[in-house]
Amino acid sequence: MDKNTIIESVDYIKNIIDIVPKIGIILGSGLGELADALEKKIVIKYSDVPNMPVSTVKGHAGQFVIGELLGKNVIMMQGRFHYYEGNSMENLSLPVYVMKYLGVENLIVTNAAGGVNTDFNPGDLMLIKDHINFAFNNPLIGRNDEKIGTRFPDMSCAYNKELISIAKGISNKFNLDVKEGIYLMMTGPCYETPAEIRMTRILGGDAVGMSTVPEVIAADHCNLKVLGISCITNMAAGILDKPLNHAEVVETSNKVKDKFKNFIINIVKEI
Ligand code: HPA
Repeated sequence: MDKNTIIESVDYIKNIIDIVPKIGIILGSGLGELADALEKKIVIKYSDVPNMPVSTVKGHAGQFVIGELLGKNVIMMQGRFHYYEGNSMENLSLPVYVMKYLGVENLIVTNAAGGVNTDFNPGDLMLIKDHINFAFNNPLIGRNDEKIGTRFPDMSCAYNKELISIAKGISNKFNLDVKEGIYLMMTGPCYETPAEIRMTRILGGDAVGMSTVPEVIAADHCNLKVLGISCITNMAAGILDKPLNHAEVVETSNKVKDKFKNFIINIVKEI
């Protein structure tokens, strides 16, 4: 990624907004409504921002929403880009760098995921402790601009421990049963086979999904503090004696969205 490309997108947005967002939130499937909670909202469509890829998934609005949440300046991505849409990993990383250069310091990344750990249930929330990159590609491949970050970033603390502890504090305070685990990314768009899910479990994955990892790698590269939260929308393939479908994912995320929204709002309060 080249810093000039990022700055071109950032300048477009800076000309429209008059606040400096400090917290970025990537809203995964079903969580887009959280943007309604923002006050003094400004909406900027991705398609209007120079250099941005185009989002093609149903239920993903495809815009930045910038405003105040509990008096804090926040930028949300209502709709994200996926690798399976045909985007390059580098393109997936652009919005993360854009948020960084707008002023963001803490990034909350959310997603819908399949539960691999059999102690999980659909509707559970999982704090991401770490990830496994099973997409076998990386947004940092290519020329490295040292102005953005180092060539060989350390990934040993990609998911910020302080933010995890804030999130755990909230779950204790409100008596929420929030799980913790490892997120494994597959490219999708097909769901996994039962054999792939058994493999994921053997490798230490607790949840499986088709996003998040490229964004977190970019965030780590430019020193953003990351909190990752998965909504377990279904048990992964082969765990239950029934096929998977996208409708189930949407249905569960709809059921859980209020709990998920409140959880994030309370976390934002404490950041
Ligand atoms: N697999 C991959 N991605 C997903 C799943 C799943 O089971 N559920 C929601 N996103």
